[in-house]
Amino acid sequence: MNGKQAAGERALDYIEDGMVVGLGTGSTVFYFLQALSKKVAEGLQVTGVVTSIQTAKLAEELNIPLMDLNDVKVIDVCVDGADEIYTESGHIYGIKGGGGALLFEKLVAETAKMRIWIADDAKVVSHLGAFGLPVEVVQFGYMQVFQQLTAKGYAPKQRLNEDDTPYTTDSGNYLLDLQFEPITDPISLATELKMMTGVVEHGLFNDITEVTIIADATGSAMVTE
Ligand code: A5P
Repeated sequence: MNGKQAAGERALDYIEDGMVVGLGTGSTVFYFLQALSKKVAEGLQVTGVVTSIQTAKLAEELNIPLMDLNDVKVIDVCVDGADEIYTESGHIYGIKGGGGALLFEKLVAETAKMRIWIADDAKVVSHLGAFGLPVEVVQFGYMQVFQQLTAKGYAPKQRLNEDDTPYTTDSGNYLLDLQFEPITDPISLATELKMMTGVVEHGLFNDITEVTIIADATGSAMVTE
């Protein structure tokens, strides 16, 4: 048992028969999907809505029924991981997109009635920004956006694959990872990035989750609602 597994399995407490469930992306969600798949094999009826091609493949292998976000009326609950989690005055802020799925993750999360983040305790931070903030940009003219971000002092780095070719998201966009230490005002930064032409989405998730399940290496999980 590790923290990611403990958190992933604990999220099952929120899944009820008949629910439509947003399925996040990443190594923590992997454990949630494994646990969910066992319940489905035992008769639990749920329908998943995926946030990435990676999760779609895994869910199909695990025989979790899926539907397209376009066909969804409501998502009852969305379970996803996070790269950093910061809580202040009851508000939960986070950085997501380390796995490149931020755009679909935000679309699914914003459709859900309730959102749950699952993470090991290494993801909890006293301020956001040590993790590079992913910004998804269209390929056309992306170097102009890169230069604007550089001029703002945000030190973008284009995400690359192992063979040094540009990483592309499931939507065929590029990712620029911004360097901050720290992010002092995630709300105004989110607005600023969103207003830049060429930016499709960013990895700041401000107040887009209600529940966090944080587990440590002993498997002990702390749930905050
Ligand atoms: C995917 O793009 C991300 O938002 C992930 O949800 C996030 O990076 C957490 O991933 P891990 O569970 O693998 O740490």
